[in-house]
Amino acid sequence: MDRNVTDLSAVRRPIEQANGLPNAHYIDPSLFEEEKQALLINEWAGLAVGADVPEIGDAVPMRFLGIPLLLVRDRHNAVRVFQNTCRHRGMILVDAPRKIEGAIRCPYHSWCYSTEGRLVSTPHVGGPGQNTHAAIDRATLGLIEVRSHVWNDIVFVNISGKAVPFEEAFAGILERWKEFDVPMYHGGADSRIHFDLKTNWKLAIENYCESYHLPWVHPGLNAYSRLEDHYHIEEPGKFSGQGTHVYRQIKDDDGSVFPDFPGLSAKWDTAGEYLTFMPNVMVGVQRDHMFAIIVDPRSLDHTLETAHIYYAQPDVSESLRKKNTEQWKTVFQEDVVVVEGMQIGRNAPGFDGGRFSPAMDGPTHLFHDWVAERVNAHRASGQHAAE
Ligand code: FES
Ligand SMILES: [Fe+2]
Repeated sequence: MDRNVTDLSAVRRPIEQANGLPNAHYIDPSLFEEEKQALLINEWAGLAVGADVPEIGDAVPMRFLGIPLLLVRDRHNAVRVFQNTCRHRGMILVDAPRKIEGAIRCPYHSWCYSTEGRLVSTPHVGGPGQNTHAAIDRATLGLIEVRSHVWNDIVFVNISGKAVPFEEAFAGILERWKEFDVPMYHGGADSRIHFDLKTNWKLAIENYCESYHLPWVHPGLNAYSRLEDHYHIEEPGKFSGQGTHVYRQIKDDDGSVFPDFPGLSAKWDTAGEYLTFMPNVMVGVQRDHMFAIIVDPRSLDHTLETAHIYYAQPDVSESLRKKNTEQWKTVFQEDVVVVEGMQIGRNAPGFDGGRFSPAMDGPTHLFHDWVAERVNAHRASGQHAAE
């Protein structure tokens, strides 16, 4: 494919002189492929949550960036991610969510793998009745495991295997939010929200970076958490987002609230913070719940999102939980029109990436700058030319 090599120098300028990413990064398929490698495969990307495989033996097939993956909870209760492809003839191993009893058995010639990925049986591989063959070294034919890391139940994968360790990549957020490194419990089916968006995945992230749109897009939220109640969170090259000083706990009809996470400092009595684990996981923390939105880029202009809400205890009130889900669903739904509208807008040839408000768009600019820096590094590495 002919590749459009964009000039990203204007993105990397200080915000007062910067432009946003060129249109090609939203409407040119070759740029989608390039970003896929540079930003999603080479970095730590969000894939799923541990709650997708709640019990030992649970296995869920997924396609991420076109790659068939298998999310498994192994016999030792660890979440693992494998390529969902048999080492024999490349058959897909698991085609629908199920519980693995015993082993992961390939439907084609019945090679079997343990939930830790070891190849454990190869029936008739040496001829009828012969289940071994000198040329088939099971020790080297296990499932190909994808490097993964679970933080607060969010399953991140580094498909290239070459990113810096997770703790290093996200050291700043982990330090800032260390008080939230406590047990969290997924609210279950009513705490999972899906969105299907006709937009490039980056626009979902960009919209999450800023509070500038609050008065117009989220009038309900703005009624109690106003523009001036928000602050920017900006760590160039690492993460960015925003926070509010006036987080207000949701109340049930009888006045009850969710229990707090244990041990939080006074700041969190009224603060809520919203950051992106770049590239694709948007997380919000508040005193009584956390949410994580995993953004799944399906193609250049098609993106899926799944939001998961977590609580401090496994048995919080169902009615309050549903009310909270509805509240967030309303807010996230309000954003759909703008993330889809910005995608259409990027087909205007005269649009130059846009002019940022130096006062209001700092966190969004930092995301663009991160994208530009990673894409430039990828181009410089030579991997770009080899693809
Ligand atoms: S392809 Fe899996 S056993 Fe043959
Ligand atoms: Fe929004």
